[in-house]
Amino acid sequence: MCGIVGYVGSNEATDFLLEGLRRLEYRGYDSSGVVTIDEGELQITKTAGRVEELSKALKRSPAKGSTGVGHTRWATHGPATNENSHPHLGGDRILALVHNGVIENFREIKQRLVQHGCVFASDTDSEVIAHLLAIELEKKTEDTLNEIDPYAPLVAAVQNTLVQLSGTFGLAIVFRDWPETIVAARLGSPLVIGVGEGEHFIASDGSPLAGHTDKIVYLADHEIAIVTADAIRVVHRDQGDVGHDVKLLEIDSTEVELNEYPHYMLKEIFEQPEAIRNALRGRLDKDEATAVFGGLNLSAQQLQKVKRFVLTACGTSWHASLVGEYMIEALARIPVEVEYASELRYRNPPLDTSTLLFALTQSGETIDTLAALREMKRKGHPTMAICNVVGSTIAREADGGIYLHAGPEVGVASTKAFTAQCVVMSLLALYFGRLHHLSYEDGLRIIADLEALPEKVERALETSNHVRQIASKYANCNNFLYLGRQYNFPAALEGALKLKEISYIHAEGYPAAEMKHGPIALVDEKTPSVFIVPRGAVYQKVIANLEEIKARGGPVIAVVDEGDHQVADLADDIIEVPKVADFLQPIVASIPLQFLAYYIALERGCDVDKPRNLAKSVTVE
Ligand code: AGP
Repeated sequence: MCGIVGYVGSNEATDFLLEGLRRLEYRGYDSSGVVTIDEGELQITKTAGRVEELSKALKRSPAKGSTGVGHTRWATHGPATNENSHPHLGGDRILALVHNGVIENFREIKQRLVQHGCVFASDTDSEVIAHLLAIELEKKTEDTLNEIDPYAPLVAAVQNTLVQLSGTFGLAIVFRDWPETIVAARLGSPLVIGVGEGEHFIASDGSPLAGHTDKIVYLADHEIAIVTADAIRVVHRDQGDVGHDVKLLEIDSTEVELNEYPHYMLKEIFEQPEAIRNALRGRLDKDEATAVFGGLNLSAQQLQKVKRFVLTACGTSWHASLVGEYMIEALARIPVEVEYASELRYRNPPLDTSTLLFALTQSGETIDTLAALREMKRKGHPTMAICNVVGSTIAREADGGIYLHAGPEVGVASTKAFTAQCVVMSLLALYFGRLHHLSYEDGLRIIADLEALPEKVERALETSNHVRQIASKYANCNNFLYLGRQYNFPAALEGALKLKEISYIHAEGYPAAEMKHGPIALVDEKTPSVFIVPRGAVYQKVIANLEEIKARGGPVIAVVDEGDHQVADLADDIIEVPKVADFLQPIVASIPLQFLAYYIALERGCDVDKPRNLAKSVTVE
């Protein structure tokens, strides 16, 4: 979703701004823009389309200056046009700002501002902030014209503006009359400051900073930062001036490079054995036949009293939560509910004090997941984050949690984060199982299964070329069904989501037997069904479902265990993956489904890493 960058120092600001915007492209966007301050004037360049268009525009007409901010916009209010792109100007070109988030009361404010005489240049909600701030700045009351603190009028104007807004914002603002200053402010939309030598960087996540600095300051809600080349001052809405902690940024710039891969998605698919090893590293305790976690921040006695789990998430992370539900119920015998975060945040489910909430999120910034976590926290439930991005908002706000350590995931379609989340779910199931009635022998058996998993995933990756051929056979189909049972039902949902996201083909995931209750009406010779049918508890049952599809003329692609001849005789195409324990099947089966979506999208000429309408990190409701 929208991205923000900013630079203040002694170099040309646009060098960092353009590079930073390219690094943020993965978040999803449809237009971009920058503003710099050159000889006391605001220089704005904005273009609809890719950052490449912005770069060309800046080559034609360079924007000089060593202070500036930039933005990639993902349209929420008004289409992707040059006018609606950020930055937006306020007053008589006295300030320009970029905004992430949504201003919910912008219509009321806009009406008021129009009556006041403001002329709007865009359809966006964001532009109201620029006009409001310009008006507040012009007020400059006596008590803010303070010689001791030259920033007093600025701070007061920003604060007076922010209290009028409802909704969420990450803001970076430059001012004609403070040409060596950027003001950043946040409420519900992340912002970080990179600390350099005689320069500072602003960004909506750490990725643009990699290679520039490894020192990072995370801005918290209700804080505004006044940033110059040499100083950062942070003012809290209620507490006045507050300090700021400089943390270590844990992104290596080489981790976000494509290297020999054509797309991040493909790179990240192939990174899964390593991501799984990292998720397991140091977390298996063979002496006690259990899992160990450093950051749950609850004692074994407290965890022993947990009687119920609520897992909340969105999208792919929600699918990983469903895998977790099957695992935790089977291995730990603890009831689990999986809730869409966007629903949970407005529900009022009766939960008692023995309920533990886990929020699963790759980015740690998904606004619905954050809101659900806050709501549960407010009600007194302990909250845990299962998160990939270190230092993200959800990771910081949860009472405790577990990092995936999957490395940066840049592709909009989540791959390695999903399998790493499933691995962490299996570790939780093992841990809670061992707190209750899972035997020592069973614990050791699960550990052995987990230790063997990375190598099994490596072998599943060898299906790549074979799946590519299958993809070219079915790439013209416009509807797909994905079917599996038990542990493989969430894998079916995830396979369908991957295909939808990057190839724009309609795909439905269903429990294989449920298909008879409606979706079977879709089956014809142009609607392939992708079955996940490894040997296991429900193997013969799924085969029966597969035969029902074949009987109606539907083509079948089946993901099976290596050497499975029974399904091979029935299906049109088979993809063999290594045999694993039932609870790990969704992980191994997901690998060829990721390839299938990837290669079909390539066949159809889709932009795999930047699929239309999607954003990597969904920071608006
Ligand atoms: C995954 O392929 C999707 N792009 C999307 O569903 C994603 O999983 C969802 O938006 C949740 O993101 P999170 O894990 O960062 O919270």
